Amino acid sequence: MKNKIVVVTGATAGIGQVTARELARAGADVILVSRSAEKCEQTAQQIRSETGAASVRFVVADLSSQVQVRRAAQEITALSPRIDVLVNNAGAIFDQRAISTDGIEMTWALNHLSYFLFTQELLPLLKAAPAARVVNVSSGAHFMARGGIRFDDVQFANAYSGWAAYGQSKLANILFSNELVRRTGLASNALHPGAVNTSFGRNNSTPLSKLLYKLWPLFTISPEKGARTSIYLASSPLVEGVAGRYFADCKPAPTSPAAKDAAAAARLWTLSETMTQG
Ligand SMILES: NC(=O)c1ccc[n+]([C@@H]2O[C@H](COP(=O)([O-])OP(=O)(O)OC[C@H]3O[C@@H](n4cnc5c(N)ncnc54)[C@H](OP(=O)(O)O)[C@@H]3O)[C@@H](O)[C@H]2O)c1
Repeated sequence: MKNKIVVVTGATAGIGQVTARELARAGADVILVSRSAEKCEQTAQQIRSETGAASVRFVVADLSSQVQVRRAAQEITALSPRIDVLVNNAGAIFDQRAISTDGIEMTWALNHLSYFLFTQELLPLLKAAPAARVVNVSSGAHFMARGGIRFDDVQFANAYSGWAAYGQSKLANILFSNELVRRTGLASNALHPGAVNTSFGRNNSTPLSKLLYKLWPLFTISPEKGARTSIYLASSPLVEGVAGRYFADCKPAPTSPAAKDAAAAARLWTLSETMTQG
């Protein structure tokens, strides 16, 4: 990964942190993007000291805010002439329906619209790289969105369920990844990292989620294992030129029928453009 410039979102914890650290260890010039300046500073220092990497920089942004997504992209543009790899990874589940600063349901704002808008804003830098890759961290939870994207109520104004909204957002990650290939020709892929023992879900405090996340370590893999497919898609020569695929365990994996719906992917793109108009 020497001379490769890599941007990883949600790089201060869990899968994103390991992804950033291991790509830095492999020689990449890494730019972390996360919402806490303190955690970014700590993570950057930790990566430098653990890997000896010379260049670990960071940009602070709450990616659920479109103003901050745009500002983060501008800051990266000032730091770097191109991006070789963009890892869209920051994501969360919200047991209670919450609203972003833009007035958008949080799961949709953070898990889907931030991937869409950040990638759009960084397109000139991605196109400036000889063979840019976009890695979109999705989830097997996309299978839960059996009926596809709820175009009549993407923000779950009615009958909100945290897992249903999460599943829909992870389906959107795959549809976006595929449509990005169709519209730009970029080598974009999506992935399921496995069930991973991270901070995922710990922002929630209902008794059921507390119980779930207490038991979570018993049936989950380590963040090191959970980051393998992201690292593979970001760096392996074996996937040079591969695009529009979904991976798990570093191998192509089946998706739900809804994730194969090209018309839904095109419609989602148009809706996302509308929802991110500055
Ligand atoms: N863990 C799993 O079992 C699992 C399974 C399938 C898919 N995934 C996906 O994997 C990705 C990473 O999740 P994880 O398990 O590593 O979770 P995590 O440990 O909670 O890490 C999430 C990262 O995203 C950052 N983040 C959260 N909200 C943000 C915001 N508004 N703006 C900017 N950054 C924000 C967090 O920052 P802070 O450190 O400030 O919180 C953290 O760095 C997510 O897209 C998730 O959907 C996870």
